[in-house]
Amino acid sequence: MSRHQGRVVLVSGAGSGIGAAIAQRYAEEGAAVAVLDADPARAEQQALHLQQQGHRAAWWQADVADYGQCERACARLAEALGPIDTLINNAGVSPKHQGRAAPIWEMSAEEWNRVVGINLTGAFNLARLLSPGMVERRFGRIVSMSSVAGSAYLPLVAVHYSATKAALIGFTRHLAGELGPYGITVNALAPGRIETPLLQSVAAELNQAIVEQTPLRRLGQPREVADAACFLTSAESDFVTGQVIDVAGGWLMR
Ligand SMILES: NC(=O)c1ccc[n+]([C@@H]2O[C@H](COP(=O)([O-])OP(=O)(O)OC[C@H]3O[C@@H](n4cnc5c(N)ncnc54)[C@H](O)[C@@H]3O)[C@@H](O)[C@H]2O)c1
Repeated sequence: MSRHQGRVVLVSGAGSGIGAAIAQRYAEEGAAVAVLDADPARAEQQALHLQQQGHRAAWWQADVADYGQCERACARLAEALGPIDTLINNAGVSPKHQGRAAPIWEMSAEEWNRVVGINLTGAFNLARLLSPGMVERRFGRIVSMSSVAGSAYLPLVAVHYSATKAALIGFTRHLAGELGPYGITVNALAPGRIETPLLQSVAAELNQAIVEQTPLRRLGQPREVADAACFLTSAESDFVTGQVIDVAGGWLMR
């Protein structure tokens, strides 16, 4: 399939899990892929992996919470691959302590600020930096990774995670309104439990409990989230904006 031929896609947190699967899927669909990750070894490995398959890819290490680092990353990645027309705000963290999410009375202000910085401000930083080019070219696609935890109580995660994932829904709807007149669509995905390294931070029984509550009776695969991301930025969804699509096996039906 070459639905994204000629496109340049920046995927944050592309060194692992869902982000790595998204990078792989876009490369297979003909896009040049800008791999951004806080972990340089993972970012380099993922970009090399794509290049070895014959795809166009470049990588840059950046902490999405840091505006200056994002600015350098966007500049260098655009120099390497061309103007970035598609942004996937995927980088996110869900801190655990001995396999459990901290209740609010135990959460440090530092941890709260760090999660807000990565999960929410990270999406702002990249959209802030890439939207001027998209507006100028009258074309752009932005997808942000929310979560079912943004709309429902999920005891496996902490309040900072749920709050930032809910905020990404407001971020998406606002930007869809603001950027729509310039040919830019803005959508979000809300995955349920997806089998990635992030999941291993909690006990297997807790993930199994979610499986039992899921109508499709299984965890999701990163590739399934990647499929939905690619749909939301392909010509097949040119008239879809401001939407949040659950990729959750029916775990939360709204
Ligand atoms: N796995 C799930 O079940 C699930 C469910 C719903 C939503 N999500 C969301 O999907 C996204 C990806 O999750 P995943 O499970 O693939 O996680 P993961 O931990 O496997 O991968 C996250 C990647 O983001 C990178 N990263 C972390 N902090 C960063 C920062 N400050 N700047 C840049 N990169 C950073 C990490 O190095 C890693 O490569 C996250 O936003 C997560 O909240 C995951």
